[in-house]
Amino acid sequence: MTVDRLMGNQGSVQVSKIIMETDTVRTILFKIPNIDFKVAPGQFLMVWIPGVDEIPMSVSLWNPPNVGITVLPIGKATSSLSSLQSNDWIGIRGPFGSAFTIESEKALVVGGGIGMAPLRLLVYDLREKGVDVTLLIAAKSKQELVFLEEFSKLSERRFTLKTSTDDGSSGFKGFATDAVAEDLDIQDYDTVYTCGPELMMSGFYEILKGLDVKFQVSLERFMKCGNGICGTCAMDSTGTLVCVDGPVYTGNQLEEITEFGKYHRDSMGLKRSF
Ligand SMILES: Cc1cc2nc3c(=O)[nH]c(=O)nc-3n(C[C@H](O)[C@H](O)[C@H](O)COP(=O)(O)OP(=O)(O)OC[C@H]3O[C@@H](n4cnc5c(N)ncnc54)[C@H](O)[C@@H]3O)c2cc1C
Ligand code: FES
Repeated sequence: MTVDRLMGNQGSVQVSKIIMETDTVRTILFKIPNIDFKVAPGQFLMVWIPGVDEIPMSVSLWNPPNVGITVLPIGKATSSLSSLQSNDWIGIRGPFGSAFTIESEKALVVGGGIGMAPLRLLVYDLREKGVDVTLLIAAKSKQELVFLEEFSKLSERRFTLKTSTDDGSSGFKGFATDAVAEDLDIQDYDTVYTCGPELMMSGFYEILKGLDVKFQVSLERFMKCGNGICGTCAMDSTGTLVCVDGPVYTGNQLEEITEFGKYHRDSMGLKRSF
Protein backbone atom coordinates (compact mmCIF):
# COMPACT_ATOMS: atom_id res chain seq x y z
CA MET A 1 0.00 0.00 0.00
CA THR A 2 1.48 3.32 -0.99
CA VAL A 3 1.17 6.65 0.74
CA ASP A 4 -1.05 7.76 -2.14
CA ARG A 5 -3.42 4.84 -1.54
CA LEU A 6 -3.69 5.82 2.13
CA MET A 7 -3.96 9.56 1.91
CA GLY A 8 -4.51 10.48 -1.75
CA ASN A 9 -3.05 13.75 -2.95
CA GLN A 10 -3.34 16.28 -0.17
CA GLY A 11 -2.69 19.90 0.56
CA SER A 12 -4.10 23.26 1.52
CA VAL A 13 -5.90 25.41 -1.02
CA GLN A 14 -7.23 28.94 -0.88
CA VAL A 15 -10.83 29.72 -1.81
CA SER A 16 -10.77 31.81 -5.01
CA LYS A 17 -14.46 32.44 -5.62
CA ILE A 18 -17.93 31.67 -4.26
CA ILE A 19 -20.89 31.24 -6.61
CA MET A 20 -24.43 31.29 -5.20
CA GLU A 21 -26.35 28.54 -7.03
CA THR A 22 -29.60 28.92 -5.04
CA ASP A 23 -30.54 30.80 -1.84
CA THR A 24 -28.74 28.10 0.19
CA VAL A 25 -26.46 26.15 -2.14
CA ARG A 26 -23.12 27.59 -3.17
CA THR A 27 -20.14 26.48 -5.24
CA ILE A 28 -16.73 27.04 -3.67
CA LEU A 29 -13.94 27.40 -6.20
CA PHE A 30 -10.24 27.00 -5.49
CA LYS A 31 -7.09 26.50 -7.52
CA ILE A 32 -4.85 23.44 -7.22
CA PRO A 33 -1.45 24.38 -8.65
CA ASN A 34 0.57 21.81 -10.63
CA ILE A 35 -2.19 19.19 -10.76
CA ASP A 36 -0.79 15.82 -11.81
CA PHE A 37 -3.95 13.75 -11.26
CA LYS A 38 -7.42 13.59 -12.78
CA VAL A 39 -10.90 13.59 -11.30
CA ALA A 40 -13.66 11.64 -13.03
CA PRO A 41 -17.38 12.46 -12.60
CA GLY A 42 -18.67 10.92 -9.36
CA GLN A 43 -15.38 11.01 -7.47
CA PHE A 44 -15.05 13.00 -4.26
CA LEU A 45 -12.55 14.86 -2.11
CA MET A 46 -12.22 14.79 1.68
CA VAL A 47 -12.46 18.48 2.57
CA TRP A 48 -11.02 19.70 5.88
CA ILE A 49 -12.48 22.84 7.38
CA PRO A 50 -9.85 23.96 9.92
CA GLY A 51 -11.07 23.61 13.52
CA VAL A 52 -14.36 22.03 12.45
CA ASP A 53 -14.31 18.66 10.65
CA GLU A 54 -13.34 16.82 7.50
CA ILE A 55 -16.20 15.72 5.21
CA PRO A 56 -16.67 14.08 1.80
CA MET A 57 -17.66 16.43 -1.04
CA SER A 58 -18.21 15.57 -4.69
CA VAL A 59 -16.18 17.47 -7.25
CA SER A 60 -18.68 19.58 -9.18
CA LEU A 61 -16.18 21.54 -11.27
CA TRP A 62 -12.96 20.23 -12.76
CA ASN A 63 -11.19 22.66 -15.02
CA PRO A 64 -7.56 22.50 -13.79
CA PRO A 65 -6.20 24.41 -12.04
CA ASN A 66 -9.75 25.51 -11.11
CA VAL A 67 -11.69 23.02 -9.01
CA GLY A 68 -15.12 23.39 -7.39
CA ILE A 69 -17.32 21.76 -4.78
CA THR A 70 -20.99 22.59 -4.30
CA VAL A 71 -22.38 22.58 -0.79
CA LEU A 72 -25.78 22.55 0.92
CA PRO A 73 -25.59 23.51 4.61
CA ILE A 74 -27.27 20.81 6.75
CA GLY A 75 -25.01 20.61 9.83
CA LYS A 76 -21.88 21.99 11.46
CA ALA A 77 -19.30 21.17 8.78
CA THR A 78 -21.41 22.02 5.74
CA SER A 79 -22.54 25.28 7.39
CA SER A 80 -18.92 26.24 8.15
CA LEU A 81 -17.98 25.40 4.58
CA SER A 82 -20.87 27.57 3.38
CA SER A 83 -19.65 30.53 5.41
CA LEU A 84 -16.17 30.55 3.84
CA GLN A 85 -15.06 33.67 2.01
CA SER A 86 -12.56 34.22 -0.79
CA ASN A 87 -8.95 33.75 0.41
CA ASP A 88 -9.94 31.42 3.30
CA TRP A 89 -7.98 28.17 3.47
CA ILE A 90 -9.27 24.59 3.42
CA GLY A 91 -7.49 21.23 3.23
CA ILE A 92 -8.24 18.64 0.58
CA ARG A 93 -7.37 14.94 0.14
CA GLY A 94 -8.24 12.80 -2.81
CA PRO A 95 -9.69 12.15 -5.27
CA PHE A 96 -11.37 9.05 -3.87
CA GLY A 97 -13.99 6.53 -4.93
CA SER A 98 -15.46 5.12 -8.10
CA ALA A 99 -16.70 7.19 -11.04
CA PHE A 100 -19.65 7.05 -13.39
CA THR A 101 -18.94 4.87 -16.41
CA ILE A 102 -19.83 6.35 -19.76
CA GLU A 103 -21.05 3.52 -21.96
CA SER A 104 -24.18 5.21 -23.25
CA GLU A 105 -25.58 6.72 -26.45
CA LYS A 106 -28.77 8.11 -24.96
CA ALA A 107 -28.74 8.91 -21.27
CA LEU A 108 -31.26 10.12 -18.73
CA VAL A 109 -29.61 11.99 -15.84
CA VAL A 110 -31.73 12.73 -12.76
CA GLY A 111 -30.46 14.93 -9.93
CA GLY A 112 -32.49 15.52 -6.78
CA GLY A 113 -31.50 18.57 -4.69
CA ILE A 114 -27.79 18.67 -3.85
CA GLY A 115 -27.47 15.35 -5.73
CA MET A 116 -26.86 17.56 -8.76
CA ALA A 117 -23.31 18.24 -7.48
CA PRO A 118 -21.57 15.14 -8.93
CA LEU A 119 -23.92 15.08 -11.94
CA ARG A 120 -22.77 18.47 -13.21
CA LEU A 121 -19.40 17.05 -14.32
CA LEU A 122 -21.11 13.93 -15.66
CA VAL A 123 -23.45 15.91 -17.93
CA TYR A 124 -20.52 17.82 -19.47
CA ASP A 125 -18.55 14.58 -19.93
CA LEU A 126 -21.50 12.82 -21.57
CA ARG A 127 -21.97 15.72 -23.98
CA GLU A 128 -18.26 15.85 -24.79
CA LYS A 129 -18.45 12.17 -25.70
CA GLY A 130 -21.41 12.81 -28.04
CA VAL A 131 -24.05 11.18 -25.84
CA ASP A 132 -27.65 12.37 -26.22
CA VAL A 133 -28.60 13.68 -22.76
CA THR A 134 -31.92 14.39 -21.05
CA LEU A 135 -31.32 16.07 -17.69
CA LEU A 136 -34.08 16.18 -15.09
CA ILE A 137 -33.32 18.54 -12.19
CA ALA A 138 -35.64 17.89 -9.26
CA ALA A 139 -36.22 19.77 -6.00
CA LYS A 140 -38.93 20.80 -3.57
CA SER A 141 -39.41 24.17 -5.30
CA LYS A 142 -38.05 26.23 -8.21
CA GLN A 143 -35.77 28.22 -5.87
CA GLU A 144 -34.01 24.98 -4.89
CA LEU A 145 -33.25 23.68 -8.40
CA VAL A 146 -29.45 23.43 -8.41
CA PHE A 147 -27.62 24.58 -11.61
CA LEU A 148 -30.95 25.45 -13.31
CA GLU A 149 -29.65 28.74 -14.71
CA GLU A 150 -26.41 27.20 -15.98
CA PHE A 151 -28.07 24.27 -17.73
CA SER A 152 -30.84 26.50 -19.14
CA LYS A 153 -28.11 28.21 -21.18
CA LEU A 154 -26.70 24.97 -22.63
CA SER A 155 -27.18 24.43 -26.36
CA GLU A 156 -30.25 22.32 -27.12
CA ARG A 157 -28.30 20.17 -29.57
CA ARG A 158 -28.50 16.61 -28.20
CA PHE A 159 -29.60 18.05 -24.85
CA THR A 160 -33.03 18.28 -23.22
CA LEU A 161 -33.58 19.98 -19.86
CA LYS A 162 -36.57 19.12 -17.69
CA THR A 163 -37.49 20.07 -14.15
CA SER A 164 -39.79 18.68 -11.50
CA THR A 165 -40.77 20.28 -8.21
CA ASP A 166 -42.85 18.98 -5.31
CA ASP A 167 -44.87 22.22 -5.24
CA GLY A 168 -45.22 22.59 -9.02
CA SER A 169 -43.38 25.94 -9.18
CA SER A 170 -41.27 24.64 -12.11
CA GLY A 171 -41.91 21.83 -14.57
CA PHE A 172 -43.68 18.65 -13.48
CA LYS A 173 -45.55 18.89 -10.15
CA GLY A 174 -44.54 15.94 -8.02
CA PHE A 175 -41.66 13.54 -7.43
CA ALA A 176 -38.90 12.93 -9.98
CA THR A 177 -39.91 9.25 -10.27
CA ASP A 178 -43.47 10.28 -11.25
CA ALA A 179 -42.11 12.92 -13.65
CA VAL A 180 -40.15 10.21 -15.48
CA ALA A 181 -43.02 7.68 -15.39
CA GLU A 182 -45.57 10.20 -16.72
CA ASP A 183 -43.49 12.48 -18.97
CA LEU A 184 -40.78 10.27 -20.49
CA ASP A 185 -40.48 6.84 -22.05
CA ILE A 186 -37.73 5.38 -19.89
CA GLN A 187 -37.09 2.57 -22.38
CA ASP A 188 -35.99 5.25 -24.84
CA TYR A 189 -32.75 5.54 -22.85
CA ASP A 190 -29.94 3.01 -22.57
CA THR A 191 -28.69 4.32 -19.20
CA VAL A 192 -30.16 6.18 -16.23
CA TYR A 193 -27.69 8.04 -13.99
CA THR A 194 -28.95 9.46 -10.72
CA CYS A 195 -27.93 11.07 -7.44
CA GLY A 196 -30.16 12.53 -4.75
CA PRO A 197 -32.33 11.36 -1.85
CA GLU A 198 -31.91 7.59 -1.51
CA LEU A 199 -35.68 6.98 -1.63
CA MET A 200 -35.74 8.70 -5.04
CA MET A 201 -32.85 6.53 -6.26
CA SER A 202 -34.42 3.31 -4.94
CA GLY A 203 -37.67 4.37 -6.65
CA PHE A 204 -35.83 4.49 -9.99
CA TYR A 205 -34.18 1.15 -9.21
CA GLU A 206 -37.65 -0.42 -8.78
CA ILE A 207 -38.95 1.20 -11.99
CA LEU A 208 -35.96 -0.14 -13.96
CA LYS A 209 -36.09 -3.71 -12.62
CA GLY A 210 -36.54 -6.13 -15.52
CA LEU A 211 -36.02 -3.42 -18.18
CA ASP A 212 -33.07 -3.37 -20.55
CA VAL A 213 -31.83 -0.01 -19.22
CA LYS A 214 -28.54 0.31 -17.33
CA PHE A 215 -28.56 2.08 -13.97
CA GLN A 216 -25.82 3.97 -12.11
CA VAL A 217 -26.28 5.76 -8.79
CA SER A 218 -24.07 7.78 -6.49
CA LEU A 219 -24.68 6.87 -2.83
CA GLU A 220 -23.95 8.78 0.37
CA ARG A 221 -22.91 7.20 3.65
CA PHE A 222 -21.33 8.66 6.78
CA MET A 223 -17.55 8.69 6.27
CA LYS A 224 -14.52 9.20 8.49
CA CYS A 225 -11.32 8.23 6.68
CA GLY A 226 -12.68 8.36 3.11
CA ASN A 227 -10.19 5.78 1.90
CA GLY A 228 -11.04 2.29 3.10
CA ILE A 229 -9.37 2.17 6.51
CA CYS A 230 -12.01 2.76 9.22
CA GLY A 231 -14.97 0.72 7.89
CA THR A 232 -17.51 3.44 8.84
CA CYS A 233 -19.10 3.51 5.40
CA ALA A 234 -19.59 -0.30 5.06
CA MET A 235 -23.00 -1.31 3.75
CA ASP A 236 -25.04 -4.47 4.46
CA SER A 237 -24.97 -7.23 3.47
CA THR A 238 -21.72 -7.39 1.51
CA GLY A 239 -19.66 -4.95 3.58
CA THR A 240 -18.94 -2.91 0.45
CA LEU A 241 -17.14 0.31 1.37
CA VAL A 242 -18.81 3.35 -0.19
CA CYS A 243 -15.59 5.38 -0.05
CA VAL A 244 -13.61 2.83 -2.09
CA ASP A 245 -16.06 0.60 -4.01
CA GLY A 246 -18.53 3.49 -4.39
CA PRO A 247 -19.92 6.08 -4.22
CA VAL A 248 -21.00 5.11 -7.76
CA TYR A 249 -22.72 1.71 -7.98
CA THR A 250 -24.40 -0.05 -10.90
CA GLY A 251 -27.85 -1.63 -10.83
CA ASN A 252 -26.24 -5.09 -10.75
CA GLN A 253 -24.13 -4.19 -7.71
CA LEU A 254 -27.20 -2.79 -5.91
CA GLU A 255 -28.89 -6.22 -6.07
CA GLU A 256 -26.47 -7.36 -3.34
CA ILE A 257 -26.75 -4.27 -1.13
CA THR A 258 -29.67 -5.08 1.15
CA GLU A 259 -29.67 -1.74 3.02
CA PHE A 260 -30.04 0.32 -0.19
CA GLY A 261 -33.22 2.41 0.04
CA LYS A 262 -33.95 1.13 3.55
CA TYR A 263 -31.48 2.52 6.08
CA HIS A 264 -28.05 4.07 6.63
CA ARG A 265 -25.85 4.36 9.71
CA ASP A 266 -25.16 7.54 11.69
CA SER A 267 -21.82 8.68 13.16
CA MET A 268 -22.29 6.16 16.04
CA GLY A 269 -22.95 3.29 13.63
CA LEU A 270 -26.65 3.14 14.58
CA LYS A 271 -29.18 2.28 11.88
CA ARG A 272 -31.36 5.18 10.68
CA SER A 273 -34.31 4.56 8.35
CA PHE A 274 -34.78 6.75 5.28
C1 LIG B 1 -19.30 10.63 -1.43
C2 LIG B 1 -20.05 11.79 -0.85
C3 LIG B 1 -20.15 12.97 -1.57
C4 LIG B 1 -20.84 14.05 -1.05
N1 LIG B 1 -20.94 15.19 -1.79
C5 LIG B 1 -21.59 16.25 -1.29
C6 LIG B 1 -21.68 17.46 -2.05
O1 LIG B 1 -21.18 17.56 -3.17
N2 LIG B 1 -22.33 18.51 -1.49
C7 LIG B 1 -22.90 18.44 -0.24
O2 LIG B 1 -23.46 19.46 0.22
N3 LIG B 1 -22.85 17.31 0.49
C8 LIG B 1 -22.19 16.22 0.00
N4 LIG B 1 -22.12 15.08 0.74
C9 LIG B 1 -22.77 15.04 2.07
C10 LIG B 1 -21.90 15.72 3.09
O3 LIG B 1 -20.65 15.10 3.19
C11 LIG B 1 -22.64 15.65 4.44
O4 LIG B 1 -23.82 16.40 4.34
C12 LIG B 1 -21.77 16.22 5.55
O5 LIG B 1 -20.76 15.30 5.87
C13 LIG B 1 -22.60 16.51 6.77
O6 LIG B 1 -21.74 17.09 7.74
P1 LIG B 1 -22.30 18.23 8.72
O7 LIG B 1 -21.33 18.36 9.86
O8 LIG B 1 -22.64 19.46 7.98
O9 LIG B 1 -23.66 17.63 9.22
P2 LIG B 1 -23.88 16.67 10.46
O10 LIG B 1 -24.14 17.52 11.66
O11 LIG B 1 -22.82 15.62 10.52
O12 LIG B 1 -25.20 15.95 9.96
C14 LIG B 1 -26.43 16.64 9.79
C15 LIG B 1 -27.48 15.58 9.45
O13 LIG B 1 -27.17 14.92 8.20
C16 LIG B 1 -26.99 13.50 8.39
N5 LIG B 1 -25.85 13.06 7.56
C17 LIG B 1 -24.58 13.50 7.64
N6 LIG B 1 -23.81 12.93 6.71
C18 LIG B 1 -24.60 12.05 6.06
C19 LIG B 1 -24.42 11.15 4.99
N7 LIG B 1 -23.23 11.00 4.40
N8 LIG B 1 -25.46 10.43 4.58
C20 LIG B 1 -26.66 10.55 5.17
N9 LIG B 1 -26.92 11.41 6.17
C21 LIG B 1 -25.91 12.14 6.61
C22 LIG B 1 -26.70 13.36 9.86
O14 LIG B 1 -27.10 12.06 10.34
C23 LIG B 1 -27.54 14.45 10.49
O15 LIG B 1 -28.88 14.08 10.60
C24 LIG B 1 -21.45 13.95 0.24
C25 LIG B 1 -21.36 12.77 0.98
C26 LIG B 1 -20.67 11.70 0.44
C27 LIG B 1 -20.58 10.43 1.22
S1 FES C 1 -14.96 6.08 5.42
FE1 FES C 1 -13.46 4.82 6.35
S2 FES C 1 -13.66 2.97 5.24
FE2 FES C 1 -15.00 4.29 4.19
